[in-house]
Amino acid sequence: MDLHLIPGAIADDAERGIIDELLGSPETHWGGADERSPYEGHVGHGGHELRDQRHLLLPALQALQLRVGYISPGGLNYACQRLGVAPAEAWGVASFYALLAIEPRPPVVAHVCDDIACRMRGGLEICAALEQRLGPAGAPAFNGAVTWHTSPCLGQCERAPAVLFQQAGEAPVEVVIAPADIPTTLAGILDGPGQIVPRSGGATSAPQAADPEEHGLRLLRRVGRVDPTSIDAYRASGGYEGLRVAFAIGQEGVIREVTESRLMGRGGAAFPTGRKWNDVARAPGRPHYLICNADESEPGTFKDRILMEEDPFAVIEAMTIGGYATNCDHGFIYIRSEYPLAARRLQDAIDSARHRGLLGDDIMGSGFSFDITIRRGSGAYIAGEETALFNSIEGLRAEPRNKPPFPTQAGLFRKPTLVNNVETFVNIPDIVRFGGPAYAAIGTAGSTGTRLFCLAGRVERPGVYEFPFGVTLRQVIEAAGGVKDGGTLTAILFGGAAGTFLTPDEIDVPLSFEGTREIGASLGSGVVMLFDDKVDLADTVMRIAAFFRDESCGQCVPCRVGTVRQQEALQRLAAGATIGSAADEHQRLTDLATVMRDASICGLGQAAANAVQSAIEKLPVFQNGRTP
Ligand SMILES: Cc1cc2nc3c(=O)[nH]c(=O)nc-3n(C[C@H](O)[C@H](O)[C@H](O)COP(=O)(O)O)c2cc1C
Ligand code: SF4
Ligand code: FES
Repeated sequence: MDLHLIPGAIADDAERGIIDELLGSPETHWGGADERSPYEGHVGHGGHELRDQRHLLLPALQALQLRVGYISPGGLNYACQRLGVAPAEAWGVASFYALLAIEPRPPVVAHVCDDIACRMRGGLEICAALEQRLGPAGAPAFNGAVTWHTSPCLGQCERAPAVLFQQAGEAPVEVVIAPADIPTTLAGILDGPGQIVPRSGGATSAPQAADPEEHGLRLLRRVGRVDPTSIDAYRASGGYEGLRVAFAIGQEGVIREVTESRLMGRGGAAFPTGRKWNDVARAPGRPHYLICNADESEPGTFKDRILMEEDPFAVIEAMTIGGYATNCDHGFIYIRSEYPLAARRLQDAIDSARHRGLLGDDIMGSGFSFDITIRRGSGAYIAGEETALFNSIEGLRAEPRNKPPFPTQAGLFRKPTLVNNVETFVNIPDIVRFGGPAYAAIGTAGSTGTRLFCLAGRVERPGVYEFPFGVTLRQVIEAAGGVKDGGTLTAILFGGAAGTFLTPDEIDVPLSFEGTREIGASLGSGVVMLFDDKVDLADTVMRIAAFFRDESCGQCVPCRVGTVRQQEALQRLAAGATIGSAADEHQRLTDLATVMRDASICGLGQAAANAVQSAIEKLPVFQNGRTP
């Protein structure tokens, strides 16, 4: 097959080296080897094997990015040759992801979060300082050594503002600083991010974890208390008891307990986990795959990060139980690139578990074999949508697929696939260990168990909090110390950027699936972001609109065009330059919301107007064509 390689673009030794390190040495001349083997020229062979490795395209592009700082035409050519992918197609993939560069870029890049939590806490001031010292975002500075970009939420909102540094080279560096300030950010740029001491994990990010007994913590009980790097510490705290029980009660027994627990998915869609597990277990066709969705890119959300950083073995144990119950041979953790510490901790946990016979062949002598691979995203919110995630792992653009077929029947590589969120998984070991009915006794009739809430914004003690379902929003806010500095609460962004704004008189809502539904809200990814009278709410709403415009994959018209038109209408309202009256613009926004909700392929487009609509309906913003 002629791949139509980019004429004259040759990979240098470093680029070839990094690709060969990932894929092994090339075996055929047309697959990238310098010499022809004796029989090449007579028969073509190896094409299928090359193309079967297509799923390594994104890791290959990421490796080039980390080593060289961008994906050069030569590097792209060589990766394509090695994988049997046309450069035109690979270009489409490379250009999809915000953290991959297809033009030369300085080796050091600071990604400064200017999203909703960070702009309340100094993120914009950092951007302004960098603009002054380095020039506009994206421009090379200091003789092409560094540059900076703004970034959507980095998942560090409780420590806002946040900056992600990436330094390309032989020993690449990825480090997050949060909370960041102007001097530390400039030091990272001037001295190199390798000099920055990374922040110290989540100990202060889960304020309740200081006394798990008192707070009845389940998911957070190890956070800040049990060494996340030690498998022995994990086992001493009850770890791997769930897997032991799972093998004792068998696959049917595990699915029965999960079903009886009535656990609902925590990734946003609240689908019954037991039903999903049952469907995958019984799905014809092999192999089955399991995916832990750790893409967590919903602005305001950081709970999964804290679980992965502070209790990584729980994620691995839960996935192993899931793999056993649903006949999966292999599991993937798809984690966003912006979480370098979590990725490292998970990889170390996987290595330790393998070393102890808790992953790999014949786990605990059960006869069950299962292993886990980490795949990293590259800066695309949409990749968290489960079918987009399959495409991303398969080496395609992370564009959602139409459903049906559903993932349980045809998911990753078109095989039956179990996808669950990190928090959903971490519930599993205790459900199996103590039984589904015991779990179902916690919470409310319609919402069983506990839930993690991400408290951020103008709140006294930001962090992740765990409560049984049914707790009121007021109780959650009070546990976090209320509004920062005794300020006046003006609004709460609830559920995420795809969620809704609530007003102070709605805070007695019971936090359960059914309780929030009653007031037209949804728990989403557990975001509880507080705003007080010091915050410009119109600015926040416009940032949310910009987020959806940027993150739309562009595949379907209602979302691709609707998110742009929505942002434009808000800008006109804010500037007092409406087309017609403010009421006309409101009607236009409502019409756009209806079209996006009804006609978009996936949840991004369907939810892109939620926060905007609730803000216009309930908050004193955009009312008269001017922000107050
Ligand atoms: C735009 C978009 C982004 C999403 N991002 C995530 C994510 O980062 N993490 C996640 O677990 N689910 C995310 N989801 C939901 C997943 O598609 C899927 O429902 C979930 O991973 C299933 O796991 P659960 O049943 O445990 O909730 C997203 C959905 C949409 C529409
Ligand atoms: S709704 Fe938006 S994000 Fe989803 S497939 Fe359509 S264009 Fe892509
Ligand atoms: S880390 Fe900046 S808004 Fe979340």
